Amino acid sequence: MQNIFLDHNSTTPLDKLAYQEMIPFLEQNFGNPSSIHGFGRAARVKIDESREIIAQALGIHPREFVFTSGGTESDNFAILGVALSRQSTGKHIITCQIEHPAILNPCKALESQGFSVDYLPVDSRGILDLERLKSAIKDDTILISIQHANSEIGTIHDIEKIGQIAKENGILFHTDAVQTFGKLPLNLEKMPVDLASVSSHKLYGPKGVGGLFIKRGTSPLFPILNGGNQEFKRRGGTENVAGIAGFGKAAELACSELENNANHMSQLKKRLIQHTSEKLDELELFGDLEKQLPNTVNLGFKGVRGEDLLIALDIAGFAVSTGSACSSGSQLPSHVLSAIKVPLELVDSSIRISLGRDNTTEEIDKFGVKLVELVNEMRANSRKGVN
Ligand SMILES: Cc1ncc(COP(=O)(O)O)c(C=O)c1O
Repeated sequence: MQNIFLDHNSTTPLDKLAYQEMIPFLEQNFGNPSSIHGFGRAARVKIDESREIIAQALGIHPREFVFTSGGTESDNFAILGVALSRQSTGKHIITCQIEHPAILNPCKALESQGFSVDYLPVDSRGILDLERLKSAIKDDTILISIQHANSEIGTIHDIEKIGQIAKENGILFHTDAVQTFGKLPLNLEKMPVDLASVSSHKLYGPKGVGGLFIKRGTSPLFPILNGGNQEFKRRGGTENVAGIAGFGKAAELACSELENNANHMSQLKKRLIQHTSEKLDELELFGDLEKQLPNTVNLGFKGVRGEDLLIALDIAGFAVSTGSACSSGSQLPSHVLSAIKVPLELVDSSIRISLGRDNTTEEIDKFGVKLVELVNEMRANSRKGVN
């Protein structure tokens, strides 16, 4: 049976070259990078090399990048690290309603500890109102955290303008760039960003590794992992050497082919949207179609349950998702679609298709045909009252 993966915002397959880069550090070069002997030194050299590659891809200095266990840890480190180290200056944080749970949940945890958090609303495309952001700023605001792009609807935020507002007000600005590193050009040195989270498994690297950019000159963040002196004393714990090796290679490859891959995926996306909108009525497209990740399509089909459609597509050999992988299964309507005020019956009717660089035109055409067939079938059954 065919098995076509169209869920690349949840994760990506491991690049073969990244995998090869990892093998020596799982086999003969298993040393602890903190050890002084040759085994340790080989591991240390690899970590330094990967840090250089990633720093170059992000346009930053290697010392500004701390390896973590992934996007979730990086987001927690940014939010909790700033809050705990700056609480004598202020206890107010600004974020937005469509952030990933890795931002929303540490913010909620801080609220229970006496911090206050503004979760700004977004419009029907997922865009933040900058005037609203300005008026949310208070004397005790210590951090603004707004994602670069949303994983469910793909809307890209205006990081330049948001960062500028933060800068003018002397407030630290963090962006969750987990969905954009490897998909959009990123030059963090030129952007008004103080902190940025990235993750390896979203750009064809291994899972369980990521990093946080901390702009030079930022006064130390409270480390959320206290232990040894690893990562310039910012994050304790023996490094995931093989993971870091794979992340470096994957980042190098993703960034060297970024433009070609983005063009390829946006062509496929256009083709899919054109096909489905020609063949189906009552089709909704969620997100900002002008400022959207090149690989992300979020569609709503009136009269169809997204979860039923997902299962039927899975049986037919196509992997898509409803909501983000992390929150689906919770039975709750997507917090992102709720925030953009999609009516409840449509929230439940949506699926997210997130394309990858290796998807082909043939795969997308096959998918489009199957999708239209299933939606028509499900709508016909629901009209007949069949479940
Ligand atoms: C925007 C965003 N932030 C954070 C994360 C969490 O990253 P990780 O899976 O590396 O912990 C994800 C994963 O889906 C994401 O999409």
